[in-house]
Amino acid sequence: MQAVVNWRQRPDKDMEKIKQASKVILDQTGFKGNTAVILGSGLGGFTDAIKDKRTLKYSEIPHYVEPTVEGHSGKLTVGNLNDKDILVANGRLHMYEGHSKDRVVFPIRVLRECGIENLIITNSAGSLRKENPPGTIMIIEGHLDFTFQDGFNDPDLITDRKFHSPELSSIANSVALRNSIAIAKGNYCWVLGPAYETSLEIKYFRSFNGSAVGMSTLPEIREGGVLGLKLLTLSLITNFAAGLSEQPLTHEEVLENAGNSTDKMIKLLSGIIEGIKK
Ligand code: HPA
Repeated sequence: MQAVVNWRQRPDKDMEKIKQASKVILDQTGFKGNTAVILGSGLGGFTDAIKDKRTLKYSEIPHYVEPTVEGHSGKLTVGNLNDKDILVANGRLHMYEGHSKDRVVFPIRVLRECGIENLIITNSAGSLRKENPPGTIMIIEGHLDFTFQDGFNDPDLITDRKFHSPELSSIANSVALRNSIAIAKGNYCWVLGPAYETSLEIKYFRSFNGSAVGMSTLPEIREGGVLGLKLLTLSLITNFAAGLSEQPLTHEEVLENAGNSTDKMIKLLSGIIEGIKK
């Protein structure tokens, strides 16, 4: 498995392809909103809550690449939620599937070209904290890059508001409290995967004040921040990370627990979308 990264490439590099993809999305769906949601593994049930749906398969959008991971359907849905036109991307690419960073963030560039200003990203993650058991939803307030693609220096904790919007985080927090949804805040540790971590790695991540670990999302957060989108990332805690539980960890467990929390996540996402002013 090879993951070739070049963080220095320009976001406008694929402008022609970005324009072609966004034109098809806008022409086919008539999307007029400014808010998008990217769904993580097993959270596809969220689209059931959307009315007047227009759906496009990724294979119908020029230059879009279909995900290969189970639980990611590769569909884009546009429709109405709480009187707002929203766009939902069900399925994302991971670097462990062998994709370059440019490929992984291509959909973010297309979303921006489609008029997106607010981007809510969801993922599933393993918990590094006993107090955040499976079923907890965690608002990401900071991130740490443990992929060591740029060298062997310890990562910095990044909490910059351009990557983690305090405004959207505060809306999410109030919606969760109002609906008695267990919510936590914390720092997401990015790893490349595809293997789950060892308990020693988890211990190491904890020493940097990491709260949850996952194999996705950081490329999208970085790109969204650079493009000036307002970003909120929610991790659904699907399991305790290695070493925090006796049970061995499997992708099936992750998908099953994600499925069990879909209702909660739908309620939270709907409330957040309702609360977004612009
Ligand atoms: N580790 C890495 N990625 C994950 C995990 C985990 O424990 N759970 C869900 N995605």
